Amino acid sequence: MHRGHRAIGAFVAALTVFAATSGWAAESRADCERDFSPRSGQAGKDVIWVPTQEDLVMAMLKAAKVTPDDFVIDLGSGDGRIPIAAAKHFGARAMGIEYNPQMVQLAQCYVRVEGLEDKVTIKQADIFETDFSEATVLTLYLLSDLNMKLRPTILKMKPGTRVVSNSFKMGDWTPDESIDHESGYTRAYLWIVPADVAGTWTFEEEGGQHAFRMTFDQKFQEITVTTAGEGAPNVKEARLRGADLQLTVVDRNDRSQTLNGKVEDDRIVLSGRLNGRTVKYVGRRS
Ligand SMILES: C[S@@+](CC[C@H](N)C(=O)[O-])C[C@H]1O[C@@H](n2cnc3c(N)ncnc32)[C@H](O)[C@@H]1O
Repeated sequence: MHRGHRAIGAFVAALTVFAATSGWAAESRADCERDFSPRSGQAGKDVIWVPTQEDLVMAMLKAAKVTPDDFVIDLGSGDGRIPIAAAKHFGARAMGIEYNPQMVQLAQCYVRVEGLEDKVTIKQADIFETDFSEATVLTLYLLSDLNMKLRPTILKMKPGTRVVSNSFKMGDWTPDESIDHESGYTRAYLWIVPADVAGTWTFEEEGGQHAFRMTFDQKFQEITVTTAGEGAPNVKEARLRGADLQLTVVDRNDRSQTLNGKVEDDRIVLSGRLNGRTVKYVGRRS
């Protein structure tokens, strides 16, 4: 054979091997599965691979109210179905973190086939050694003890971060919501990372004379409030969702009113109508 033809032959052969190993030429999901097709129940580093059913994926992302402004991270992302759905159906940026390199390659191939490379990244890494603090929505399908191992890190995430776990709970941190789906045998749970409000705060009324103290006893998102000081609102009920604080207070005519607040680290701004006027209280952690 002519030398030039031999060189072209070698180039084409190399290209074929590259295409087969990189998934570069894949045009369909079936192409992606040509070299490796996963089996439900196959071994994984800390937990086996069992995929979340597609309709539960959608129900989980809907419950988390994913929008194009979100960054969704799936811990132990398997074939990438959760980050792919987050980008494809909700317009979010998304990342999957997966230990098994074959699953990573498969998921990356699916991402390319779906044309979602600008929105979805699949990273080969151990979830226990990777920073996922940038996520605004975190999804998991692990095991209870793995959730518990991750819980301290999750609770340090930005207040308001939505966390959705297929099947497994987070110990004594009660979910904010249970997510059922029609055809499924599993259920998922949603938590909203609560702001840390525990302790005593001193509030001053902006442009007013009142100053009082408020002490929050906190267990995750559940809080009880005690107040002290002249002019302190009479708090009947308190609700914390992420960084949003809602206090139901009783005015001097025994009517219920609502004060809404935002927690920003060591500052809370509370405002609403009370005793016939608009009030704004600024609280600092004592
Ligand atoms: C039950 S599957 C869930 C897959 C995907 N999240 C879903 O819902 O379809 C758990 C995945 O976690 C992966 N995994 C196990 N231990 C891991 C670790 N330490 N770091 C990263 N991934 C891990 C497994 O390989 C498997 O793909």
